[in-house]
Amino acid sequence: MAKAMKIAIVDDEQDMRQSISQWLALSGFDTETFATAEEALKRIGPDYPGVVVSDVRMPGMDGMAFLKRLMSQDSALPVIIITGHGDVPMAVEAMRVGAFDFLEKPFNPDQMTELAKKATQKRRLALDARALRRDLSGGTQIMDKLIGASPAMERLREDILDLGQADGHVLIDGETGTGKTLAAHALHAVGARASKPFVLVQCGAYPADEMSTQLFEGDPDAAVLPLVEQARGGTLCLEDIEALDSNVQARLLTFINDQGSPAETRIVAVSNLQEQGKTSEDVLRPDLFYRLAAMRITLPPLRQRGEDILQLFTRFADQFADEYGCEAPEVGAQEAAQLLQAPWPGNVRQLTNVAERAVLQSRRGSGTIASLLMAESESVEPVMTTEGKPLKEYVEAFERMLIDNTMRRHKGSIVSVMEELCLPRRTLNEKMAKYGLQRSDYL
Ligand SMILES: Nc1ncnc2c1ncn2[C@@H]1O[C@H](COP(=O)(O)OP(=O)(O)OP(=O)(O)O)[C@@H](O)[C@H]1O
Ligand SMILES: [Mg+2]
Repeated sequence: MAKAMKIAIVDDEQDMRQSISQWLALSGFDTETFATAEEALKRIGPDYPGVVVSDVRMPGMDGMAFLKRLMSQDSALPVIIITGHGDVPMAVEAMRVGAFDFLEKPFNPDQMTELAKKATQKRRLALDARALRRDLSGGTQIMDKLIGASPAMERLREDILDLGQADGHVLIDGETGTGKTLAAHALHAVGARASKPFVLVQCGAYPADEMSTQLFEGDPDAAVLPLVEQARGGTLCLEDIEALDSNVQARLLTFINDQGSPAETRIVAVSNLQEQGKTSEDVLRPDLFYRLAAMRITLPPLRQRGEDILQLFTRFADQFADEYGCEAPEVGAQEAAQLLQAPWPGNVRQLTNVAERAVLQSRRGSGTIASLLMAESESVEPVMTTEGKPLKEYVEAFERMLIDNTMRRHKGSIVSVMEELCLPRRTLNEKMAKYGLQRSDYL
């Protein structure tokens, strides 16, 4: 059942505002009254969940000025203006400024109820549409944050969109730094729960007893709701689920079973696969695992997203260069090859760190990306990985980056790029089209 819409009644005459209020309250509206426009403005903001009924002639700010203020902060707010008998020019002016409708004194209370019904219906539709738009744009924004065009990332995006629409509990796993937390946020943001709470819990943050209390009991003395309640209707994201004590896992299972389906609170469990070769199946109670794993998203390690590495590095380096107010370091052929072949045990997070240090280094004018990467890997010899990566992918990623960098340096001068890369114009055009590079972006 939708919440009753509010009606704000603004009139300097006490009798008048009380009789309107009583009448509308009898018709099921949630009314509030104000003696002045100034007072009303303190309570009526841009997303006011209702409509306004206002007299025109009032001391202080009059009804017309009030209407203009309301329209400037939210032009979709329905305002019903009450005018004096025969005050036609005033009524015309109010409609021109954006009033929903006007009523001439004295009016029939049923007329008022009719108008209020129409106005609140319109308001509800407008607010719903607005919330939906906001949710969608929030969802797109977070999806835009997920960089990468490799098949693994494309699949991840599809999974997030699909599961985001579904209602069941989800298990997200993957190695450290692969973007699990980002994916959990995205899952919430693209779905119907986007406007509801997203509550994130670090399961390893407290000892078992305390964790259990926080999750399921809260603290009635301090008026703190249990976390499962705080997330009601939305998403409860349990980070590092494997850190939950087995008894607490059992309690979580009971909570899930009691909820039935569709679940009111969606559980998104995030499991960190620290040791390679271990899966979340090994670290969770089997009963809980089977309950959660019906919908599962596994973040691919960075070393399996070969072609994304350079794109991620360039984007992060650009961001840090912006932040530190300097130029991003140039990535030459050799550096690109090294970035592509590094093992990246810390995945995307490690890549952001390397990008930041590369920017700081280049600002000082010392050091190379190669030396950074060497320092990162524990072994003395550079570790080469070719895990599941066809040579063609490396070559293409590299080619794209090289053309992109050269176009940037020459600010979109095709002739200079042709010369530097020794490419005929036609080949350059073909390659740019293939990689989605546009000259206009470099001018
Ligand atoms: N595909 C991506 N595009 C852009 N940034 C990403 C991507 N994946 C991860 N990141 C960034 O990398 C960092 C690590 O991501 P995140 O914290 O989501 O990883 P995680 O798997 O949850 O790590 P942990 O195992 O430590 O919890 C964050 O700064 C995140 O914004
Ligand atoms: Mg995380």
